[in-house]
Amino acid sequence: MDSKFGLRSFSIVMTLLLTMAPKLQAELTTVEHAPNSDGSISFLVIGDWGRRGLYNQSQVALQMGRIGEKMDIDFVVSTGDNIYDNGMKSIDDPVFQLSFTNIYTSPSLQKPWYLVLGNHDYRGDVEAQLSPILKSMESRWICMRSFIVDAEVAELFFVDTTPFVDAYFIHPEDQTYDWRGVSPRESYLQTILTELEMSLRESRANWKIVVGHHAIKSASIHGNTKELESLLLPILEANKVDLYVNGHDHCLQHISTSQSPIQFLTSGGGSKAWRGYYNWSKPEDMKFFYDGQGFMSVKVTRTEMNVVFYDVSGNILHKWNTSKMLYTDFAFPM
Ligand SMILES: *[C@@H]1O[C@H](CO)[C@@H](O)[C@H](O)[C@H]1NC(C)=O
Ligand SMILES: *[C@@H]1O[C@H](CO)[C@@H](O)[C@H](O)[C@H]1NC(C)=O
Ligand SMILES: *[C@@H]1O[C@H](CO)[C@@H](O)[C@H](O)[C@H]1NC(C)=O
Repeated sequence: MDSKFGLRSFSIVMTLLLTMAPKLQAELTTVEHAPNSDGSISFLVIGDWGRRGLYNQSQVALQMGRIGEKMDIDFVVSTGDNIYDNGMKSIDDPVFQLSFTNIYTSPSLQKPWYLVLGNHDYRGDVEAQLSPILKSMESRWICMRSFIVDAEVAELFFVDTTPFVDAYFIHPEDQTYDWRGVSPRESYLQTILTELEMSLRESRANWKIVVGHHAIKSASIHGNTKELESLLLPILEANKVDLYVNGHDHCLQHISTSQSPIQFLTSGGGSKAWRGYYNWSKPEDMKFFYDGQGFMSVKVTRTEMNVVFYDVSGNILHKWNTSKMLYTDFAFPM
């Protein structure tokens, strides 16, 4: 190879890196979660749940405990709307104990809970849910806006999707949202997208899972979130994301289209469900839809991924699995 040419490409690469340098200063917070000795991880996913045990929240919690024990889960993921109807009023709001501590009491659920915020959480004191004081009261509560859980075999990228939705800003109706820390909105969103893209690109994990509150694709009442379809989806597709997992619609669903390699999974059945709404024009994309309560489990090994959906009684409703080779093709031509 011509060494002059090599040097010049090197300096072009360096210039590009330096141009990008300021963005590197505000990286997404990463939580390391060591996998099991065989390299696997397993976890449950629950969404749209905090209703003081009502609407079968307690029954779902009981079954999560049972399945969690059977699978020996490593952690729980919440897709948001952690506290209804209007998030937490303050750090002392008893709704936290009534809707979380006193509900998810099974031994198998005494693991880290990685939580994103939903639009209902944004209607209260967002800082309270994010507060280290709350975490000191409940060490399993790990709630941030956008962050990464690195479990080696898989990386989970949590995205704060509520600020993406135009309607909450343009037509808030009679709702008020706690946008502290979010404005100016444009740069807040741009920072998330830039950091996510960079983190996904750099990820060496064999499996990449992105978690948000709002659906990219959904057949239920809220439908597809157009802001996420246009801004988030292209980044996920360009970076070989395996799963996009959300709540928001109070149902369980699995969508897989011929246009995208991503599996779109909704786990929003943590409490109130049964909306009685379904609108999806391509039956071949809809792998599974259930309009009631339940939750989801994910098990990931180095080469396999297994997803299972359960109803309020812990019955298996739907299973999906896939396998892939280890990520060994990482090489730069020198
Ligand atoms: C709770 O689940 C039971 C089935 O175990 C069902 O009959 C009932 O309608 C559910 N309640 C609500 C509020 O969804
Ligand atoms: C179903 O969704 C489509 C968009 O995908 C929308 O144009 C149509 O109005 C919806 N139908 C109903 C009955 O809501
Ligand atoms: C994966 O799914 C297929 C059906 O799609 C099933 O036959 C197979 O047993 C599953 N494998 C595992 C490991 O669950």
